[in-house]
Amino acid sequence: MPYQLTDEQIMMRDTVRRLAQNEFAPRAVEIDRQHRFPRENIQRMAELGLMGIPIPEEWGGAGCDFLSYIIAVEEISRACASTGVILAVHTSLACFALLQFGTQEQKERYLRRLASGEWLGAYALTEANAGSDPANLSTTARLEGDYYIVNGSKLFITSAGEADLYVTFVRTSPGSRHKGISCLLVERDTPGFTVGKIEEKMGLHGDPTGELIFDNARVPRANLLGAEGEGFKIAMSLLDGGRIGIGAQALGIAQAAFDVALDYAKKRVQFGRPIAEFQAIQFMLADMATRIDAARLLVYRAARLKDMGLPHSKEASMAKLFATDTAMQVTTDAVQILGGYGYCKEYPVERYMRDAKVTQIYEGTNQIQRLVIARHLLK
Ligand code: CAA
Repeated sequence: MPYQLTDEQIMMRDTVRRLAQNEFAPRAVEIDRQHRFPRENIQRMAELGLMGIPIPEEWGGAGCDFLSYIIAVEEISRACASTGVILAVHTSLACFALLQFGTQEQKERYLRRLASGEWLGAYALTEANAGSDPANLSTTARLEGDYYIVNGSKLFITSAGEADLYVTFVRTSPGSRHKGISCLLVERDTPGFTVGKIEEKMGLHGDPTGELIFDNARVPRANLLGAEGEGFKIAMSLLDGGRIGIGAQALGIAQAAFDVALDYAKKRVQFGRPIAEFQAIQFMLADMATRIDAARLLVYRAARLKDMGLPHSKEASMAKLFATDTAMQVTTDAVQILGGYGYCKEYPVERYMRDAKVTQIYEGTNQIQRLVIARHLLK
């Protein structure tokens, strides 16, 4: 599989890098400190056609390949990881839900708005007792005439309260684990649907993560995505693409941390010379750069497989697992290289380290990724 990017992919990388470094990076500190949703970043991305990069032009997207989108998530996360995850969930989990499983009418109603950036999308699977085990989810939906009546709650939902459309997984038939799960498209102003507690998190402060509450929420029957009982498979196949996006987010964070560490090591003088001249630091930098390169190869390979319409579930899990572990390792080492300064907010590496941690947790913990990989190896 060739590593070389096409001219279009390079153009996407350079355009997004300019936008992210010139506009998003300078705002990232303030967004982190103020726990502020980066609305202006989302608006900028919408103006530039970045809210639907891999969605066909006929549905309001940019009509690029999946790898171009992955490169964009990497570049944006390198500047502002909160903006990166908002884009990743919106694209991989919400836009793709419509693109892959929506009817013509559902695409007309929702995909165009999502892909153009007029609306922001979210994905609601996790519950208090259904994290790694979503087949155990208990939010119910009961059909009454032309409406599903939804009751229950969702937890840890990315862009809670900011998103306009929530791709929501519900139980339509009791006691049948994954076979009783269906998927509903829930608009933010649905009667009976509210946003509950917003979590106080270690990192990703620009991205609100919160609870969704359904109290006899009335969702039109026409908003059923796919058939009843198909929800779990829809959720899983969307996560196959989503996990590549989280790998890209982690890659961007790792690259940002490495850049700061390298620059610092060349300038910081101790014992009469720059610390980059000491082998102890050189070996750390060499390991960091090698891991980032390896992570990039895995992430891009998974994206290419998806572009080619080939199976990519195992490769997406491998990419997510390796890239997010790399982000944690590289950001931790970057803090170490900067020493006391690394631990302080004067430099961005402590933020990178806080932002990196959750990439090992969401869209399936890295323990779940290993389980997915092992199941593929053994089947
Ligand atoms: N694509 C399509 N179908 C799939 C699939 C996939 N990738 N993986 C499994 N399935 C199908 C299986 O073939 C099986 O179908 P049959 O009934 O026809 O046999 C069915 O789904 C059930 O599969 P399993 O028996 O493997 O299901 P399981 O209960 O053992 O769970 C799991 C498997 C991989 C552990 C899964 O539960 C999982 O991925 N857990 C992690 C959940 C997760 O990632 N949550 C992320 C929340 S979203 C988020 O974090 C977003 C954010 O905010 C950033």
